[in-house]
Amino acid sequence: MKPENLNDIVGSDRNHLWHHLSQHKPWQTTDPMVIVEGKGLRVKDHNGREYLDAVSGGVWTVNVGYGREEIADAVRDQILKMCYFANSAGNIPGAQFAEKLIDKMPGLSRVYYANSGSEANEKGFKLVRQLAALKNDGKKHKIIYRDRDYHGTTITTLSAGGQAQRKDQYGPFTPGFVEIPHCLAYRDPRGGDPDYGVQAAKDLEKVILAEDPDTIGSICMEPITAGGGVILPPEGYWETVQEICTRYGVLIHMDEVVCGMGRTGKWFGYQHYGVKPDMVTMAKGVASGYAAISVLATTEDLFNEFLAEPSDQMHYFRDISTFGGCAGGPAAALANMEIIERENLLDNVNQMGDYLMGRLNELMDKHEIIGEVRGKGLFVGAELVKDRKTREPVHESVAAAVVGDCLKQGVMIGRTNRSMPLYNNTLCLSPALICTRDDIDEIVSAIDVALGNLEA
Ligand SMILES: Cc1ncc(COP(=O)(O)O)c(C=O)c1O
Repeated sequence: MKPENLNDIVGSDRNHLWHHLSQHKPWQTTDPMVIVEGKGLRVKDHNGREYLDAVSGGVWTVNVGYGREEIADAVRDQILKMCYFANSAGNIPGAQFAEKLIDKMPGLSRVYYANSGSEANEKGFKLVRQLAALKNDGKKHKIIYRDRDYHGTTITTLSAGGQAQRKDQYGPFTPGFVEIPHCLAYRDPRGGDPDYGVQAAKDLEKVILAEDPDTIGSICMEPITAGGGVILPPEGYWETVQEICTRYGVLIHMDEVVCGMGRTGKWFGYQHYGVKPDMVTMAKGVASGYAAISVLATTEDLFNEFLAEPSDQMHYFRDISTFGGCAGGPAAALANMEIIERENLLDNVNQMGDYLMGRLNELMDKHEIIGEVRGKGLFVGAELVKDRKTREPVHESVAAAVVGDCLKQGVMIGRTNRSMPLYNNTLCLSPALICTRDDIDEIVSAIDVALGNLEA
């Protein structure tokens, strides 16, 4: 496309687009950014300026990097052959991807297609509500979620959202959702308890007992909290959660929308912790953004609860997602997964993740403002504080300034963004799973310069 056409595009964008998560006022005097092309980890904007994308499309999505011809070919071939049919019928890549996916998820066996993370989570919530109606006289309908977790943007997924600023002004919310505390050891209100993981998990039991176990259907949690500040479960946390859920007959719904498909160095985040989920939802990395696809995977036991004689007209999952029938989605997902396997990207994630953590820990020696670095694989956060001793968080504007400075240097990094009052102070890094040491050096050096500029 010629540069003059790009000027027109920027004009059309400014005049007609309503961007996500954005205040438009500044674009009355400056240009909005238009991303024009990408290859590997690099993207170019409308001015031809190149950036190293350390956040995989801004929100942990383009896991195998930009410009993958084989995914584009797979989608093109499939949509020419058969683009769409409602998923009450099957399609070829849908069946093939389901089988390949389930092979990576021992204990699970069924795949339900939708097209966004929020929607997949809603399916999980609907299963719980319907199961309560079918089996438990309407009891066991409540769904537990955790402070600082995020499960989506619809009113009901926001009802399960632990990020107050995301929810603010969008109520009233769907009833039957109950919050438990987060498990961020760095912000442990009990102050450095060595048994914090187990104690934090026991908060779940307290809430189940207070609400009445007979009313609790499931918990929905991120294995590692993403937009809530890259929160790793402390030692003993998931084991205790699992044990409590088994004791009280509470289904475990793992939201793998960010962690799924290799981001943390295993296929799924929960696989680091020996959890046995009843439901797993995934979206972003499933097709690395080459097609819109999300998945709810369940156990055969859960699936079997919905089997009945057809004469029982209401005893099946009466749910549909129109675009869950787009055959390009699973075609892209299949090609995406083949790339991760063929290029041994899980190994790369583990090696490069260690390298990235090491480099950020070095930065901690240099910059007092970094209170803590946490991460798993290529999913890393650095929490910024005013004072390491008191752990007082910096204002959101400080994290925003660091992100802005990195962008000026040609490196896109992320941050917790208008989510938790006081705690929008974590820088987030999630480069594509193909990243190299050189890429990481470039990312870390941009952050180093940006933190230095803050201190200057
Ligand atoms: C953990 C988690 N779950 C669910 C969602 C919602 O996904 P989507 O934006 O595709 O609806 C997100 C989005 O950021 C997420 O981070």
